[in-house]
Amino acid sequence: MRTQVAIIGAGPAGLLLSHLLTRAGVDAVVLETRSQEYVASRIRAGILEQSSVDLLTEVGLGDRLRAEGHEHRGIYLQWPGERHHLDFVDLTGRTVWVYGQTEVQKDLVAAGTAEVRYEISETTVHDVETSRPYVTYVDARGTAQRLDADVIAGCDGSFGPSRNAVPAETYERTYPYSWLGILADVAPSTDELIYAWHPNGFALHSMRSPTVSRLYLQVPNGTDPASWPDDRIWEELGRRLGHGQDGWKLTPGPITDKSVLPMRSYVQTPMRHGNLFLAGDAAHIVPPTGAKGLNLAIADVTLLAKALVARFRERSDALVSSYSDDALRRVWRCTHFSWWMTTMLHTGGDPFDAQLQLSQLKWVTSSTAGATGLAENYAGLPIGF
Ligand code: APR
Ligand code: PHB
Repeated sequence: MRTQVAIIGAGPAGLLLSHLLTRAGVDAVVLETRSQEYVASRIRAGILEQSSVDLLTEVGLGDRLRAEGHEHRGIYLQWPGERHHLDFVDLTGRTVWVYGQTEVQKDLVAAGTAEVRYEISETTVHDVETSRPYVTYVDARGTAQRLDADVIAGCDGSFGPSRNAVPAETYERTYPYSWLGILADVAPSTDELIYAWHPNGFALHSMRSPTVSRLYLQVPNGTDPASWPDDRIWEELGRRLGHGQDGWKLTPGPITDKSVLPMRSYVQTPMRHGNLFLAGDAAHIVPPTGAKGLNLAIADVTLLAKALVARFRERSDALVSSYSDDALRRVWRCTHFSWWMTTMLHTGGDPFDAQLQLSQLKWVTSSTAGATGLAENYAGLPIGF
């Protein structure tokens, strides 16, 4: 079998790349190791930058997002006794949207612009340094297959084969804490997200819909979710989010999902080797505190699609040649911002660090310059800046 672009991975990066290429008349085939149901059911983050919403709308994926998503003007930052709203619209003229990654995945599948081979195995890339790379794999029926292409796009996340096929410098930072994340069938107790610093640890109040809340607690690495019964979770969320402060109440409800998410920062450079191009989690991982993971994947494939369409439709390799540098500019900006939010808001027990964190929080919530810096990064810079 032959195609122009062999895409490995049917997560948001792979499916959106296929959508963008198909719209531009470039052939692509997507190879995915899991089932369609599994890929669609994964619970992931839920914040879209303005530039992501603009892009999805521009390419025909904005209807349900705009109908069912929620546009937010900003976020709340808090520490014991104080809660401050950062208004991104006043500071930068930009907003963010609450719309689960699971919903974006559903919209991409519904668009029907991806030819996906699900439940494949033994995915291996070959001859990526030549003009005729190919992928071998075993299909869902157990038959060995070969997919020839002009280009391979590695959108196979942090555990896929593509990243190991790119000789690269790697940069990594791990963190001595994780997030205990819950999904709960209860109306959110806040109109916009609350990021809370607390001596007991960080807490985040997010949401999925007017009836479903998503909340997180900083916990030690290796925490067993079973060691956190529901009552203990709500009690600790109430403590860290300021239940009772200025009359504000956190309303508990039935918890439908509970998981512990370790966090790290990881970047590998370059994001291209010959005719193998990496995008999304295959090339970089950010801790979720800056809400950048999905938005970075969208930005990567937007740049990559533009570059590949120029190669196939205009025989120009200018954007292909600069793809890795162009993508990495945003990757490092978002990697820094995600590290900065994470180290500002998670406590490690050192009293000097705690005072530095509180001083930084007081600065970003009282200085227009400080607040604008956070807002600009959180709401996101235009794709390709
Ligand atoms: N062969 C085929 N597919 C594979 C292989 C393989 N050997 N290994 C992994 N995959 C698939 C995974 O099953 C997954 O569906 O690649 C896909 C990668 O998707 P994601 O992990 O969602 O990565 P990406 O599309 O880059 O999206 C990044 O997802 O994890 C969040 O926070 C992250 O929001 C960010 C977004
Ligand atoms: C989420 O809604 O899951 C979410 C929101 C903001 C973050 C991380 C996760 O920073």
